[in-house]
Amino acid sequence: MTIAVYCTAATLDGYLADEDDSLAWLFAVPDADQASAFESFLDTVGVLVMGSTTYRWVVEHDDLTAHPERWRDAYGDRPAYVFSSRALPEVPGADIRLVDGPVADRWADIVAAAGDRDVWIVGGGDLAGQFADAGRLDRIIVTVAPATLGSGRPLLPRRFGSDRLAIESVSMDGPFAQLSLSVR
Ligand SMILES: NC(=O)c1ccc[n+]([C@@H]2O[C@H](COP(=O)([O-])OP(=O)(O)OC[C@H]3O[C@@H](n4cnc5c(N)ncnc54)[C@H](OP(=O)(O)O)[C@@H]3O)[C@@H](O)[C@H]2O)c1
Repeated sequence: MTIAVYCTAATLDGYLADEDDSLAWLFAVPDADQASAFESFLDTVGVLVMGSTTYRWVVEHDDLTAHPERWRDAYGDRPAYVFSSRALPEVPGADIRLVDGPVADRWADIVAAAGDRDVWIVGGGDLAGQFADAGRLDRIIVTVAPATLGSGRPLLPRRFGSDRLAIESVSMDGPFAQLSLSVR
């Protein structure tokens, strides 16, 4: 059965990015290239879901307008649902599906696009929260970096107690700690 997994890296104090949407704190972690869990996670993914800030960051960071083939190199032919109320830059050859409005209204399409694999909620935190609010988030996998920011883009700007979240596993992944939680 297809599940929705919010899988992301975050600082120890729970930020996805700083206030300028920079991931410099993540790229600065020594030996980050020794982390290997993401590759096996990606094998379980049939479809990507992200908000427009995350999508724009990927397009700009990987210079996808000039090098659209980098999308396929990273994500294969998986479709991506991008939530936005605005027009966004295209990535030629990539299956990018722009959508707007309540996430529950898109759930059936997203699950169908996942095939027999899972849904990766890439971020940001509020979009993951929208899926949780709609009862459509099953798991959170956080790769915690040895860094703090003090402020920035929050991991999950919601108030969920342990009645809704349970830690299922903790492991080392290179210089990171990886937490996997189930969501009720
Ligand atoms: N550390 C990591 O591994 C990691 C992972 C993911 C993201 N990030 C970073 O974290 C930051 C996240 O940014 P963010 O919190 O602003 O989140 P985001 O989810 O990437 O983007 C938020 C935007 O998406 C659009 N949106 C969200 N829900 C929508 C809906 N239901 N319908 C229509 N549009 C909707 C809205 O923009 P518009 O309607 O105005 O387009 C909203 O302002 C980015 O810098 C990203 O690069 C880091």
